[in-house]
Amino acid sequence: MNLKTCIVANWKMNLNFQEAEHLLHEISHIQFDTKKMDITICVPFPYLVLATSILKPKGIHVGAQDCSAHAFGAFTGEVSAAMIHSCGAEYVIIGHSERRMQHHETPMLLSQKIIQALEAGLHIIFCIGESALERAHNTQFEVISQQLTEVWPVLKQVPVDRLILAYEPVWAIGTGNSATPDIAQEMHAHIKNILLNQYTSESKDQSINVLYGGSCTPENAYALFKMADIDGALIGGASLKSKSFINIVNAV
Ligand code: PGA
Repeated sequence: MNLKTCIVANWKMNLNFQEAEHLLHEISHIQFDTKKMDITICVPFPYLVLATSILKPKGIHVGAQDCSAHAFGAFTGEVSAAMIHSCGAEYVIIGHSERRMQHHETPMLLSQKIIQALEAGLHIIFCIGESALERAHNTQFEVISQQLTEVWPVLKQVPVDRLILAYEPVWAIGTGNSATPDIAQEMHAHIKNILLNQYTSESKDQSINVLYGGSCTPENAYALFKMADIDGALIGGASLKSKSFINIVNAV
């Protein structure tokens, strides 16, 4: 099975409403083949409705960057997966390393978020990645295996066509120090091997997009996308300017 390439923007906590509106309109003019590629823009919560109204008619998907681990109720400041879905968004990022580190998100909490997103009907972009120290100790493969196995009981319940994995080495995020294509490919092959083993033992199709994230730019995108097991990218900084984002899309 040939998977579509996925290009996902993660705006993080950037841009005010007017700047967001401007960028959304610029992105809405991207020319791309919807049969070969999926583009998803993950915006801050207050911009979800705006983003869906501008991008959905152009065949571009919208996502949130996180969701609550709870369904509804007295959780001040939280946003549920069902709320995200009701805004017209179709995707949610779960397990980004910034959430894991800054908000001490545990595998248990991430599992609850996955369940909420699954029940709300969202597509899940689940992030994994080792730290610089873990790589320095040469434990990156165990770390990634662990990050997948600890949520596997819930992740395996997500239909494969609603699940995307993003390999984002923490040392590459926002540093300008992207993984080389070979280093990224080596880990993507490892991840696909884990998926193959897990899904084969459960007799399921294992065709899941594995995206690369971490200082992906127009300069390095082409070489990364050429690698056999890199099925697209999760892009932070370079998604905040239409020119660089469009150039990455054009590198596919
Ligand atoms: P970056 O962020 O492209 O700015 O490194 C990627 C991410 O955190 O998703």
